Amino acid sequence: MKLSVDYRGTPFLETSRVYATVDRLNYVCEMLLTRNLHAIRDKNILDIASHDGTYSYACLQLGAKYVVGVEPRSHLVHDAIENLTSLGHKTSEFTFIEDDIFNYLPAIEPGQFDTILCFGFFYHTTRQTELLAQIHRIKPKYFILSTRIENLKLPRSKLQGINRWECRETAGFMAFYYENPRQDMATIEPTGLTGTPSKSLVEALLKDHGFKFKQLSWNRADGVSYLAEIDTRI
Ligand SMILES: C[S@@+](CC[C@H](N)C(=O)[O-])C[C@H]1O[C@@H](n2cnc3c(N)ncnc32)[C@H](O)[C@@H]1O
Repeated sequence: MKLSVDYRGTPFLETSRVYATVDRLNYVCEMLLTRNLHAIRDKNILDIASHDGTYSYACLQLGAKYVVGVEPRSHLVHDAIENLTSLGHKTSEFTFIEDDIFNYLPAIEPGQFDTILCFGFFYHTTRQTELLAQIHRIKPKYFILSTRIENLKLPRSKLQGINRWECRETAGFMAFYYENPRQDMATIEPTGLTGTPSKSLVEALLKDHGFKFKQLSWNRADGVSYLAEIDTRI
């Protein structure tokens, strides 16, 4: 298969702390970005949790107008700038901001970004609803979400909440985990507490925050990806 972005020989293979093999990065890029070129080419893009610039780089290779990456770990911000520069991109094409995305988003004006990427972050926080509310307020044309999901299956008969008079139906589950915040791929919250939502919960949250979406075909049991747009009917 001819790839529009090929990670062979790129520095991300060294600097990423997120299982960065050539095959995985090429596959993710193909499925989530290259096949959604209309959401990338000539667009202003926000890359949430940009890590070492892995997917910001892909966006520029695919013709994005400008990319802003937000990442709280300073050495990863440094790596991202070095990586993109060493691969021939000019600093006039991108900015990497060292910040917590929850500090950054409230200052963004609606329409400032055409496309927002959220790859590998939705399960490193417990603030999913706040994140989606901010993204909806900013009103990008496209929101591409890729997240790990919780696959726990609970039989309906075990659900206590469903019998409460005010509870209509179950939206899904969130499993809470403690991560080690000293690790580069983890939450920055000192307690380490994070929440991994079930697939049905991700979809309920997207819908309730005013997105219409389609699942991007990606064969993985532990994760799911979506191309979402603001639902103007809501
Ligand atoms: C699993 S990595 C995913 C990195 C990259 N987006 C990818 O898909 O390869 C999670 C990233 O989220 C970053 N992160 C953690 N808490 C954050 C926060 N509050 N705001 C922005 N980024 C955060 C971490 O530093 C790390 O780079």
